[in-house]
Amino acid sequence: MSFPLYAPAEEHRMLREAVRALADEKIAPRAAETDENEEFPWEVYKDLVAADFHAVHIPEEYGGAGADALATVIVIEEVARACASTSLIPAVNKLGTVPLLLSASEELRRRYLPPVARGEAMFSYALSEPEAGSDAASMKTRAERDGDHYVLNGTKMWITNAGVSEYYTVMAVTDPSAGARGISAFVVEKSDEGVSFGAKEKKLGIKGSPTRQVILENVRIPAWRMIGEPGTGFKTALATLDHTRITIAAQALGIAQGALDYAIGYVKERKQFGKAIAEFQGVQFMIADMAMKLEAARQLTYAAAAKSELAMKGEHVPDLTFFSSAAKCAASDAAMEITTDAVQLLGGYGYTRDYPVERMMRDAKITQIYEGTNQIQRMVMARQLLK
Ligand code: CAA
Ligand code: FAD
Repeated sequence: MSFPLYAPAEEHRMLREAVRALADEKIAPRAAETDENEEFPWEVYKDLVAADFHAVHIPEEYGGAGADALATVIVIEEVARACASTSLIPAVNKLGTVPLLLSASEELRRRYLPPVARGEAMFSYALSEPEAGSDAASMKTRAERDGDHYVLNGTKMWITNAGVSEYYTVMAVTDPSAGARGISAFVVEKSDEGVSFGAKEKKLGIKGSPTRQVILENVRIPAWRMIGEPGTGFKTALATLDHTRITIAAQALGIAQGALDYAIGYVKERKQFGKAIAEFQGVQFMIADMAMKLEAARQLTYAAAAKSELAMKGEHVPDLTFFSSAAKCAASDAAMEITTDAVQLLGGYGYTRDYPVERMMRDAKITQIYEGTNQIQRMVMARQLLK
C-alpha cells in the first residue's frame, strides 16, 4: 500500500526534468545579465509561454495547464534554481489570480483567466501600501460606489511586476467603519484611466522583476469587477496567501538548490593545501548541513502543497494556514543560510559577480520579507497553535 500524500508522482518527476532542461538551456545563461541590467526578461517570458510554464496553475476550463499545487511548486523551484527574478512570473501569476479562483464570479474568471493562460497578460497582486505592510488591514486605498461603478483612489506599494502586468487584484476599503470587514477586492486593468506606476525600486536582489507603486487616481471601474461580495476582500487576500506563501517557499528552495549545486561542483574542483577543498571535513560538514536544511524545508513545502491542493478542491483543511506559513518561513530561512554558506565555500571568488552565488544570496533575502515577513509568519503560526 502506498500513501501518496506528497510524494511526487511520475508526472511530477517528468515535469521537473522538462522545466530543468528549459531552465538550463534558456534561463540560466541569461540570469546574470537579467540581474545586471535590472530589466524584465521578456525573451525568457516568451520561452516560458512557449513551454506553457508561465502560469501552470490555471485550470484547464480557463485554457490553462491545470497543474496541481505540487506541480506549480516544482515549476517555480526549477525556474528559481536558474533565475529567481524569472521565477516570479509563474509565482505572481498565481498570486494575482488565486483571488479569482477562490472568490470571483464565473463571469470575472472567464474574462480574465484565459488571457493569462495564453500568455497574453500577466496578473499582479496589490495589497501593501506605504503605511500598511505587515498590518495590511490598515490600508487607506478607497473604493467608493457610484451607480454601477466603483471609483478607486490610493497608492499600492511594492507591487511585483507592476507595469509589465496587464491586470491587478487590488484590495481597497469600501466601508471605512468596518475595519478588515470593510475591505473589498477588485480587478483593475493597467489600461484603466487613472492608473499609473511609480519609479522602479532600486533593490538588493530579484532585480529582473520590477517592483513599483501602483497609483490609482479616480479609477472608475464597473461594479462587476469586484471579486466576491463587498467586505470579503481581506479574507480573500489572506486565503490567497495561504496558497501562495507555498510558492515563495518554492522560490526559496530553488534559489538554495542552485547555490548548493554550484558549491558542490566548486569544492570538488578548487584545490588548496594540495587537495580538493571537498576533502576537508570542515567543508564536508557545511555541505551536509546545507543539503539537510534544504531537504527538510522541501518536505515541509511539499506537504503544504498537498494541503493547498486539497483545499483548492474544496476540502476543509484547517491546518493549511499553519503549513503554508511554516513552509515559507522554513524555506526562506534555509535559503538565506544556504546561499550565505555557498558564498563562504567559494571564498573570495564567491563574493564577486564572476560567480552566481552572490546573486543567489542577494535574491534569497527577499523570500524572508515578502508575502509577509518571517516575523509575521511566526505570528500566524503561533495564532493557529494557540487559538
Ligand atoms: N484566510 C481567510 N481569512 C482569514 C485568514 C485566512 N488565512 N486569516 C485571518 N482571516 C480573517 C479573520 O478570520 C478575520 O475575519 P473576521 O473578523 O470576519 O473573523 C479577518 O481575516 C482579519 O483577521 P485578523 O484579525 O487575524 O487580522 P490582523 O489584521 O490581526 O492580521 C495578518 C492579519 C496575519 C497580520 C495579515 O495582515 C498579514 O498576513 N500580514 C502580512 C501582509 C502580507 O503577507 N502581505 C503580502 C503582500 S503580497 C507580497 O508580498 C507579494 C510578493 O511577495 C510577490
Ligand atoms: P513593516 O510592516 O513596516 O515591517 C518592518 C519590520 O517590523 C519587519 O521586520 C517586520 O517583520 C516587523 N514587524 C512588523 N509588525 C510586527 C509584529 N506584529 N511583530 C513582530 N515584528 C513585526 N506587496 C504586495 O501587496 N504585492 C506585491 O507584489 C509585493 N511584492 C513585493 C516585492 C518586494 C521586492 C518587496 C520588498 C515587497 C513586496 N510586497 C508586495 C510588500 C511586502 O509584502 C511587504 O514589504 C511586507 O509585508 C512587509 O511590510 P513592510 O515592508 O511595510 O514592513
